[in-house]
Amino acid sequence: MRDSPPGGSQEEYGSRFERWDERAAVRVKPQPVMDTPAPDVLYFPPELVPVLRHPLVAERGERAVHDALAQHLYHYLHFTVELEQVAIIPVAAGIARGRSGLNLPERMRADAYKIVTDEAWHAQLSYDLIRQVEARSGVAWPTRAPRPSCGGSTPSAGASTPGSGGWNDCCSRSSARRSSRPS
Ligand SMILES: [Fe+2]
Repeated sequence: MRDSPPGGSQEEYGSRFERWDERAAVRVKPQPVMDTPAPDVLYFPPELVPVLRHPLVAERGERAVHDALAQHLYHYLHFTVELEQVAIIPVAAGIARGRSGLNLPERMRADAYKIVTDEAWHAQLSYDLIRQVEARSGVAWPTRAPRPSCGGSTPSAGASTPGSGGWNDCCSRSSARRSSRPS
């Protein structure tokens, strides 16, 4: 494999963002607005929420199941927000700004800016959907929801530095919470 010239080889990189302006949801689609849901709407597939089968939940009736499914959707969407904002965007931004430590083609860096925009839109949509479901379901979203665990892996590309509130901090705080629990 030959070395890339400074700034990377333009020929070796096939961009998948040539039609980004025409195809990216953030560029061409309006912000989704939920219809008013039916009273028996299921906000999350029940088969993916095993706690619903526990007698302590089941015996509390349909409203408890409805609320638990809405909470599960919040958790899922909140995880998406955290993943985009804390892990993916910092890495993509590092690539876009030439701070990845890698010798990348200029067009790849330009595409990384588009990825940052796309992923920020995904996070915004997820947050907005939480608020829409909250307003329609009457199930409050716990705004002090715990930060999702990141499983201990740390992205590269200069994603975050200690104390920056980035992915590494998420991991260290998760570890701190784990170690403070009684075993
Ligand atoms: Fe995304």
